[in-house]
Amino acid sequence: MQILSLGYLGINAENLSDWEDYGTKLLGLQAVDKSNKTTAFRMDDRRQRLYVEENGKSSLQYFGWEVLDSAALQGIAAKVEAAGITVHHDNGILAQQRFVRELVWFLDPGGNRIEIFYGAEIASEAFSPGRDIGGFRTGVHGLGHAVLTCKSLEDLLPFYTKILGFGISDYVLQPFKAYFLHVNPRHHSLALVETGEKGVHHIMMELMQFDDVGHAYDLADHRDEEIGVTLGRHTNDYMTSFYTYSPSKFMVEYGWGGKEVDPRNCQPFELVDGPSIWGHNRSWLSDEANAIAREQQKRNAEIGLRQPMQVLPGNHFEMPTNCEWWESFLRSKK
Ligand SMILES: [Fe+2]
Repeated sequence: MQILSLGYLGINAENLSDWEDYGTKLLGLQAVDKSNKTTAFRMDDRRQRLYVEENGKSSLQYFGWEVLDSAALQGIAAKVEAAGITVHHDNGILAQQRFVRELVWFLDPGGNRIEIFYGAEIASEAFSPGRDIGGFRTGVHGLGHAVLTCKSLEDLLPFYTKILGFGISDYVLQPFKAYFLHVNPRHHSLALVETGEKGVHHIMMELMQFDDVGHAYDLADHRDEEIGVTLGRHTNDYMTSFYTYSPSKFMVEYGWGGKEVDPRNCQPFELVDGPSIWGHNRSWLSDEANAIAREQQKRNAEIGLRQPMQVLPGNHFEMPTNCEWWESFLRSKK
């Protein structure tokens, strides 16, 4: 597997100041390098993770996937070209704007602009979030995940799995059809949802501390931010999250507690409990799909579907139970 992570994203915007406000005050990103028509955001030690351009459009402009070095970049470029797709080599101008050493770009079969890069620049100054948060979970996991909608999964899935080497973590067939793909221990860095239309469904950023998600949920309410998906927990990556509509019309999932997969030893399977353990009421679903989702929600509550919390060192306390019935319950589960 040559792609390491989702490294950066380029965003089209109709109004830059809306993004500056949403990015810093709700999401907690750090706005840097502002110009008349562009602004960049940091979310960790990297010089740039998101780049927003005011150009009268919305949605995402490009997806930056990171590889280790020039050899890995050339290897992927050769595979993509062998699949009959034109690969564009940058003369250094785009790499300079993205703050990376080198990049190539091409369009995937759905028309999404994919950039492959290596050598992201590390900022000389510490990350300073736009509001008081405990930071984002990035590192080897990349910036988060992106979820694309497509006309048909048959158009896109083989390209990402066979040509770019993404692994399938799992998939869901009801109330919508979606495949979840990994390139590192993050459960999915990319997901493809068959909706009949090409587009960007959402991007996800994961917080290090759970309360930062709760604070954002409250702030979204105070700011009258449009909630696309209410607070809930996913069945596959165990993420507790909610979604707001960004100023560029796609949603941003804001979550905590994502599960890891072992990319070397992952057997894809169908998720039969729906996309969420609880919550996650979706404003974007059709009435018919929503009815199925509500039935799944009710069933999950009835069967007591639960999953362990995924916690990080330094971010939780393990307490003594001091409760015999619970300890005997745990012993009975061994
Ligand atoms: Fe997501």
